[in-house]
Amino acid sequence: MYYKSISKYFLRLVVCFFLISQTACTKKQTLAAAQNLTIAEGFENPIGFYEASPTFSWKLPNMDGVKNQSAYQIVVASNPDLLPDQADLWNSEKQETDQSAWVKYEGEALKSSQKVYWQVKYWNQDKEGSDWSEIQNFELGLLDNDDWKAQWIGLPTKDEGVIGSQNNIIHRPQYLRKGFELSNEVASARLYITAKGVFDVAINGKDVSDDVMPPGYTPYHKRIETITYDVSDLIESGQNTIGVEVASGWHSGRLGWMKSYWSDTETPKIICQLEFTMKDGSKEMVVSDSSWKGTTDGPIRLSEIYDGETYDANLEIHKWTTSNFSDKNWKAVKAFSVDDKIRLEPKRHTMVKSRIELKTQEIIQRDGSIIFDLKQNMVGVPLVKIPMKKGDTLKTRFAEMLSPDGTFYTDNYRTAQSTNYYIADKDGVVEWMPKFTFHGFRYVELSGYDTSEKPSKDWVTGLVQYSDFEENGTFTSSNDKLNQLQSNIVWGLRGNFFDIPTDCPQRDERMGWTGDAQVFGPTSMFNADVYKFWASWMQSVRESQFENGGIPWVVPDVLFNDKVSAGWGDVCTIIPWKIYYRTGDTKILEENFETMKGWVGYHEQVSKDYISSMDGFADWLQPLPANGDNKGDTSHSLIGTAFFARSAKLTAQTAEVLGKTEDFKKFNELYKNIAKAFDAEFFDENGKVKGVTSTQTSYLLALAFDLLPEDKQENAKKFLLEEINNADDHLRTGFLGTPLLSQVLDETGQVDVMYKLLFNETYPSWFYSINQGATTIWERWNSYSKEEGFNPQNMNSLNHYAYGAIGEWMYERIAGISPLEAGYKVIKIAPVPNTNYLTTAAASLQTPYGTVSNSWKITDNQFSMETQIPPNTTAKITIPKIGNEELLINNQKLTAIKEIKLLSTSDDFIEIEIQPGTYNFITPYNQKK
Ligand code: BGC
Repeated sequence: MYYKSISKYFLRLVVCFFLISQTACTKKQTLAAAQNLTIAEGFENPIGFYEASPTFSWKLPNMDGVKNQSAYQIVVASNPDLLPDQADLWNSEKQETDQSAWVKYEGEALKSSQKVYWQVKYWNQDKEGSDWSEIQNFELGLLDNDDWKAQWIGLPTKDEGVIGSQNNIIHRPQYLRKGFELSNEVASARLYITAKGVFDVAINGKDVSDDVMPPGYTPYHKRIETITYDVSDLIESGQNTIGVEVASGWHSGRLGWMKSYWSDTETPKIICQLEFTMKDGSKEMVVSDSSWKGTTDGPIRLSEIYDGETYDANLEIHKWTTSNFSDKNWKAVKAFSVDDKIRLEPKRHTMVKSRIELKTQEIIQRDGSIIFDLKQNMVGVPLVKIPMKKGDTLKTRFAEMLSPDGTFYTDNYRTAQSTNYYIADKDGVVEWMPKFTFHGFRYVELSGYDTSEKPSKDWVTGLVQYSDFEENGTFTSSNDKLNQLQSNIVWGLRGNFFDIPTDCPQRDERMGWTGDAQVFGPTSMFNADVYKFWASWMQSVRESQFENGGIPWVVPDVLFNDKVSAGWGDVCTIIPWKIYYRTGDTKILEENFETMKGWVGYHEQVSKDYISSMDGFADWLQPLPANGDNKGDTSHSLIGTAFFARSAKLTAQTAEVLGKTEDFKKFNELYKNIAKAFDAEFFDENGKVKGVTSTQTSYLLALAFDLLPEDKQENAKKFLLEEINNADDHLRTGFLGTPLLSQVLDETGQVDVMYKLLFNETYPSWFYSINQGATTIWERWNSYSKEEGFNPQNMNSLNHYAYGAIGEWMYERIAGISPLEAGYKVIKIAPVPNTNYLTTAAASLQTPYGTVSNSWKITDNQFSMETQIPPNTTAKITIPKIGNEELLINNQKLTAIKEIKLLSTSDDFIEIEIQPGTYNFITPYNQKK
């Protein structure tokens, strides 16, 4: 007995010891798994994916013991059960490298609809291995036209001869349906679908998704995006029904003030393919074909992007997307086979969604109508919940602003009617939102409701719609107007990232103006996770390039006028380079290199001895032009030549990154020759503009694009300052010059001048529009003023993101976060505080390696800064200092911390290199007088 209990006791001890030693070991050996696993441009477990050989990215966890990655291993399999040890598609094996983003898949070729699983592990700086990450997956869409067994179908709506607002033929929305029976139990079901137009789809009476206006907008004569939905949960055994509504959208509606169309002959159509995997492993398919039925006698009578939607509830077709409905009186659709010329490709970025709900803040009543003020200019649709009487028509109008007398300001919508109608089929509260249109507005005016009811704010809610991306950064400061500017920039982004980057969201344009995109792109990348958005649109840019290399004014190019503009077409070199610099992904450069070369070639064709004669919109909307012209005062030839040089240089840089030595030499040489010619043609020996009008923008272009010999640069900077001084310390720049102001003044050591321009309250300036009540960025510095009212030109959008380009400098220099090496592998933290304007500023940003944040504060002659640097990066930090005063880092002296490297020191600054982690810096500071 005694012996037994002793041995029991001993056994327990051994077990305990074993367990303790195990946990101790585990603790030492196991590092938390990699996080935020994504593929390609940042997709998380996508279905209907577009790319058969994507890249893989992950982030290291923020934890003690993880500073850097020394190696990784990726495994990819056709079945999760095979991971990690029997990966049948790819095993990267252990790769000794710190690369943790954009690792190329090099496994077996993948095919349409294939689903694959993957995971990753990493080794830290001490060569300790992590746990395997969670298993991720992706599933490909239909990659080739040959994968489509379905046909395009639709009704001949053109024959109905319905006339629209501009005397144009318009198409009534169609309701298309098909019932089908499944003989077997379904294990999983996919719906592959798209439209020549925009669609909404339901199966067995249930919405398939909350996507807004799928499939989105591409150069339709070349490529239409297809969408994949997992509809396994909607399919029933036995009888099923699919119903699709299709309206004109961008494909078959009018676009642009020139009344352009992708096709005014082709009627809207859909194509769809339901693919089932049955429980017994067999496959079945239901496709769109001539057996489908359709009608145009549904409730949506008309729907146009510019003009709005008309809905007649009396025509609602109950249960038409269920099997409990007879379509015997519906028409047979016409079916057309898939055309090889138009590629059907899975969408490569996210759909538009209703992302934010804005509540009405104030109600204004005026005779017979009522105005709901959301107090924020926004883009999307209103959700109305309003009492109505049977037979009455609710009319909804929109405006971005009210006129001083309280009336609706709609002149700036130009020919866009932007008006919705709802006809009630019974008394009671109607709940409705339009489906195939969108509006840019702050105010919603309703008339035709039941006036016996007391208006209530919850009658109107604004549904803010934009491409479904997450916000990626934050910026805030001690100055309310600067914070309002940041908010206006973000709202400009939300308002104009509606599947493509648009100039404006409200008038008869809403097109992908290339110049606007070029100017605002970099700032958008700080504020939102828009890599996939831009990469996708760049595909449309490539597809829209003319044979001669020219890049059109708008992309998709619905204007079909073969016209180009300097500073607009250069979007094809600027955006890829900026994206590469912020992500570190060379794919964006690889994809666009040929297009860049083509565009530089076009520049060459319209130049003589390197001096450009390319025309265009020049420094568009420069304020106070001497000649009153929207194109401003800067010489067109100077602008064309400057952008010729800029694009040649970016193409050279791209060639260098891609290891194309010959191309690098060629384009670098070209850039140098253009710069020489530019200098000789437009600048005298003192670095002053000659032969053409001297403007702020001419100096900005010369300096920002590095077009002057070194010995002239100092003088040119002085002349630029003189120009600014002559303008009473105000900017005189339009679309092309404005984004360069901060870069050039900063590089010139004139940060204080930039602060002055940024904080100017009077016209023209950013704060001027804020003082006039702007809640978004305006097209013009003076789109509206309290003294003079609306700008008399009706090209006067109150939601035009271009001047929001200043956001880049706010992040990079006011808050102080920028990449020093592509993709933030090396981060620069170098804020430039100016206590005349600010006592604090802070920003945070998601980078490919994790969150970087920086926030500084100046109080009682002390500068303090909190900085977070993610794993697998290093950072160079520049901190203002006075003379020999000591800098404290996490309450210790610099010399006491061995991991921190002192890089340089001067009387005003100290520069150090730090490793990943969280730091607090404190140093004495001289407040500016
Ligand atoms: C658009 C712009 C565009 C411009 C070209 C305008 O109508 O709204 O923002 O860049 O035309 O000059």
